[in-house]
Amino acid sequence: MTAALSAPRITASGPALLSAQTAGPRADNVAKLAAIARDLRSDTLTVPTDAMFAAMAEASRGDDVYLEDETTTSFEAELAALAGKEAALFVVSGTLSNQLAIRTHLLQPPYSILCDARSHIHRYEAGGAAFHSGAALETVAPQNGHHLTWAHDVQPNLVLGDDVHSAPTRLVSLENSLNGTILPQDEVLRIREGLDALDEDIKLHLDGARLWNVAAETGLSIKELCAPFDTVSMCLSKGLGAPVGTVLVGPSAFIRKARHFRKLFGAGIRQSGGLAAAARVAVVQHFPKLRATHELARFAAKGMQELGVEITSGAETSMFFYDPTPLGFDAATLAVRAAKLEPALHLASGPRIVVHHQTSAEAIDDLLALVAQLKDEFADRAGTHAKAVNGSLYSGMKKA
Ligand SMILES: Cc1ncc(COP(=O)(O)O)c(C=O)c1O
Repeated sequence: MTAALSAPRITASGPALLSAQTAGPRADNVAKLAAIARDLRSDTLTVPTDAMFAAMAEASRGDDVYLEDETTTSFEAELAALAGKEAALFVVSGTLSNQLAIRTHLLQPPYSILCDARSHIHRYEAGGAAFHSGAALETVAPQNGHHLTWAHDVQPNLVLGDDVHSAPTRLVSLENSLNGTILPQDEVLRIREGLDALDEDIKLHLDGARLWNVAAETGLSIKELCAPFDTVSMCLSKGLGAPVGTVLVGPSAFIRKARHFRKLFGAGIRQSGGLAAAARVAVVQHFPKLRATHELARFAAKGMQELGVEITSGAETSMFFYDPTPLGFDAATLAVRAAKLEPALHLASGPRIVVHHQTSAEAIDDLLALVAQLKDEFADRAGTHAKAVNGSLYSGMKKA
C-alpha cells in the first residue's frame, strides 16, 4: 500500500479553546459530602459515590440511540426483569419518564387522566400532560386524606362513555410513594380489578419515583408492586442516589414507541453507558440502605412530636411533613436558624424533612436539639402563632 492511499491521521493542530489541565482532586467534593449529610431538603441532593465513578470508567461506550450500548441495554433488561415487565427504557428524569408514558398511552383525543390531586404529574411537571399530550387532568383529593381508593375516589370520578361534552378517562395514574406515604397494595389491586371489569380501554400507570422505598418498607418485591400496572416509572436518582436516571417499564411494543417519543422529545442519550453504570451501582448498593433511612426519619418525626411539633404526614418512608407552629415558630424560622448552626443544617423553608442514605445521625440529633432550643426561646408565643397554611396535606411545598 502506498502512503498516498492511507487515511490521514487526526492530530491536534487547531487552536485550543480551553486549557487541557484539570484541577486535580477537588477538596470541595469532600466538603460536599459532609454538607449533604446535614441536608434534609430532598433525597435528590445525594452525592454520587466513588463506586459509581469506578463503574462509569468500566462502562461500555456505544451509542444507545443506535441501540449499541451494552451497559445500558443490559441494565434495561435487568430492570425490566426486576419489575416483571417485558422491556425498559432508561431516561434522564422522572418527569421525562412520566411524560413519555402519558404521551405513549394516549392515542386519540379528547381524553383525560385521573390522578391524585397531590400527584407529581399534576403539580410539578409544568403542565406537561397538557403540553405534550393535550390531556385534561381529572384530579381527585382522596376521601380518606391518605390515598385514592377505587370505591370512593377512582370509580366515581371516571369519565366514561362517548358524551360529546366530556373528555373520557383513558389513563389512571397513581403515585407510590406519594409525599412519602404508601398506597396500600390491596387498594391498587382493587383499582386494577375495577378497571378490568369495565368495558373501556383505560390504562393504569404508576409514578413509582420512590417505589424502591415502598418495596423496602413493605417487604413486597418490585415485581409484585408493579404487577397491576401497565407501565411504571421508577427513579434511580431519588432515594437510590444515582446522579441521573429513571427507568420506564412496560410491554415491548409500548417501550419501543416510548423510545421513539424520547427521540422526538430530543432526549435520546448517545454514550449513555456511564450513566447506566452509575445508576446500576445505586440499585445494588443503596436499595439495601433505604429501610434504615425510614427508621431515621421516624426517629426524627417521633422526637419532634415529643417536643410538641405536630406531624401532619408521618414518616411511612423517608420523608415526613410537620407543623411546629404550636411551639410558637414556623418551619421557615426553623430553617433559618438551622442554616446558622455550625456546621449548618439545611432544611427546606416548607414543612418537609427528607432523610437519605447519606444523612448522618448527628444531623438528626442537631435538628432535635435545635427544635428543643427554639421551643424554649419561643415559649411565650407557644399556641399563639397562626397555624401554618402549608402544613396541610393538599398545599405547601413538595418539590423533587
Ligand atoms: C413522585 C415524583 N415523580 C416524578 C418526579 C420527577 O423526577 P425528576 O426530578 O427526575 O424529573 C419527582 C421528583 O421529585 C417525584 O417526586
